[in-house]
Amino acid sequence: QHETVFRRMIQLIKDVCKLVSRALQPPRNVRITSHNMDLVLRWDPPEGAASGLFYTTEYNTSVSVYKVGCLHITALSCDFTSLNHHITVYGQYTARVRAELGEEKSAWVESTQITMDRDTMIGQPNVSLISSKSNIEVSIEDPEFRISELRHAYNYATYNITYWKEGQEEKAESISNIQQNRVILDKLEPWTRYCVRVQINTQRNLNPSEPSSVTCESTDKESPWVAAVVTFVVMAMLVTLAVVAVVHRKKMSHFLCPKDSLPQHFKKHLLEHPSSSIYLAMRDSHPPEEVYDQVSVIAEGNPMEEERPLEAAGTNCSSQPETTVGQI
Ligand SMILES: *[C@@H]1O[C@H](CO)[C@@H](O)[C@H](O)[C@H]1NC(C)=O
Ligand SMILES: *[C@@H]1O[C@H](CO)[C@@H](O)[C@H](O)[C@H]1NC(C)=O
Repeated sequence: QHETVFRRMIQLIKDVCKLVSRALQPPRNVRITSHNMDLVLRWDPPEGAASGLFYTTEYNTSVSVYKVGCLHITALSCDFTSLNHHITVYGQYTARVRAELGEEKSAWVESTQITMDRDTMIGQPNVSLISSKSNIEVSIEDPEFRISELRHAYNYATYNITYWKEGQEEKAESISNIQQNRVILDKLEPWTRYCVRVQINTQRNLNPSEPSSVTCESTDKESPWVAAVVTFVVMAMLVTLAVVAVVHRKKMSHFLCPKDSLPQHFKKHLLEHPSSSIYLAMRDSHPPEEVYDQVSVIAEGNPMEEERPLEAAGTNCSSQPETTVGQI
């Protein structure tokens, strides 16, 4: 009697083991993360995972039951903040994920709990520097949060500004508990390059923010508004010149190329055969070979004169073809 019961139990355990080993394995390494107030569940595929696996995720708060997050996705993460759900800065969340293959579903794997304002990783602030004689003004821009804003989520956020002469980071000085996002570092040495790094401290988050990237600037440089004014003046002059040139285009072309013909006696004199020996020597010498292209003038508004070669054009000085000079 006892023996049969024992055998049956063994058989039952074997069956259960078979079922379990055939069942779909759950995702591994499930972790919930938050960076700049997002809420993302991440996982690795089950061991020896078949292809074509899908995943479904759910999340709950400390005061609600599980709600569906991402449904039948193939990605290995689910960003709950990008779903149209109400995730809050002070919420406490747990999430879970299971693998799915056709009708088969693995067991759920649950993450640890995350408290958003306490656990989120605050990203680096943006720092820009403006220098003047012996001051450097530090401007700090908070990282952008996925939900809310840094100053709303953390009323008592402060900046910790660390600065040092370039190359002497071991002698860095810090000023902390700064609440304004514009700070002037004064009494610096002139003609010296300083580097600055900023971190955000909050009272509720366990960690300070990621440190900003290091930004450097030299003291006693021409302040940027001087450069701006100089640029403006130069631009204004150029624009004025351009306008004047356009408005007086006609006058200027008259000046450079007068229409009036030369006085008659002048022309006559010019056309007379000069008798100087230099001229004669020049005339008799072999003329230098001239390389030239034929140029056409297209008269505006007169289709009859289209493509007339330059030699035939009027008496205006600019239209005297240079090419004839060598042929006198
Ligand atoms: C920092 O500033 C750059 C350029 O202005 C911008 O693209 C970037 O998103 C900013 N980063 C943060 C954390 O605000
Ligand atoms: C400010 O930052 C410096 C450098 O990272 C660090 O040594 C110092 O402890 C920080 N101060 C505060 C109050 O967090």
